[in-house]
Amino acid sequence: MPTDTPPFAGRLLAWWDRHGRRDLPWQQPRTPYRVWVSEIMLQQTQVSTVIPYFERWMRRFPDLASLAAAPLDDVLALWSGLGYYARARNLHRAAQACAAQHGGKLPDSAAELAALPGIGPSTANAIVSQAQDRPAVVLDGNVRRWLARHSGTEGWPGTSAVQKTLWAEAEIRLPDRRGADYSQAVMDLGALVCTRTSPACDACPVAEDCQAFLLGKTGTLPSPKPAARVIEKRLFMLLMVDPENRVLLEKRPGAGIWGGLWCLPAAESSRELASITGLETTEMRELERFEHRLSHRRLQIQPLLAAPGRATQVKCTGETGWYDRRGRARLGLPRPVSKLLDRFENGEFK
Ligand code: ADE
Repeated sequence: MPTDTPPFAGRLLAWWDRHGRRDLPWQQPRTPYRVWVSEIMLQQTQVSTVIPYFERWMRRFPDLASLAAAPLDDVLALWSGLGYYARARNLHRAAQACAAQHGGKLPDSAAELAALPGIGPSTANAIVSQAQDRPAVVLDGNVRRWLARHSGTEGWPGTSAVQKTLWAEAEIRLPDRRGADYSQAVMDLGALVCTRTSPACDACPVAEDCQAFLLGKTGTLPSPKPAARVIEKRLFMLLMVDPENRVLLEKRPGAGIWGGLWCLPAAESSRELASITGLETTEMRELERFEHRLSHRRLQIQPLLAAPGRATQVKCTGETGWYDRRGRARLGLPRPVSKLLDRFENGEFK
């Protein structure tokens, strides 16, 4: 970084003075109660959605005492449509806790705020910084994104180790005054400039020492959530057809994959499949194998066609039945099974 570059916070605040959001309803006036309600509404919800809810809320519950005294049903009705209703229940419970334990006011310290229902460390700091103008670390999703880029922090920000690193990175960037404006500025930078896709680096006040910008990593930071390991599994399915062209289906046990659905008799090897159905492996002919993907599994499905004439002698332990196309329409079948049966009936397997 060039030695004459002003400190990070100075550049961000100068940008915010020109481009930041200063007409949000909870900023006028920025009381602890109004900031708290807005921060809870803004968790998982966009500013444009929140504004009309916030305004209605403040007309009905203008202060903490009116919220604490209201029936929960009224609170939930006003929240209706915002989603994540635990947030509304927690606001109500927290208001009652403040009425009982804090003299009818929100406590001043971040630690006491974070002890109330629904308030985590970042939200507690967002309230303290905005309502009391004290600089404090705010680390919501938008902030985590630009901070991972600016500091060049690798790793998915969902892990506690990466969050700890980002918290420390946020601390060293804090100014020693203008806490309220700075908190709004860090959120605005993420929402308006350092967006998830195509960040506007040419409009960014802190691009010159942004590690992702300098190293060409804005497209790869923050690191995405790691994909869960995909397990590959082979599954043999027996297709047995009786003289009336019906197939044998078996109801899967309640727990596990496809629990409660109707499936072809299935096993992890042809020998196991032979033994559970009472057939010889030589009485089963391999059809074309296909793949079926589930979220964390890749199934290689090997259909086996039982020799004609064996149908009536089959033994199966679970709940079974012979079904034609019409009978099957009333049953729940896993997708690969219905696909396989459709292909078989269309004569695709020879
Ligand atoms: N998200 C959380 N707090 C916010 C705020 N004060 N302004 C805009 N978005 C936010």
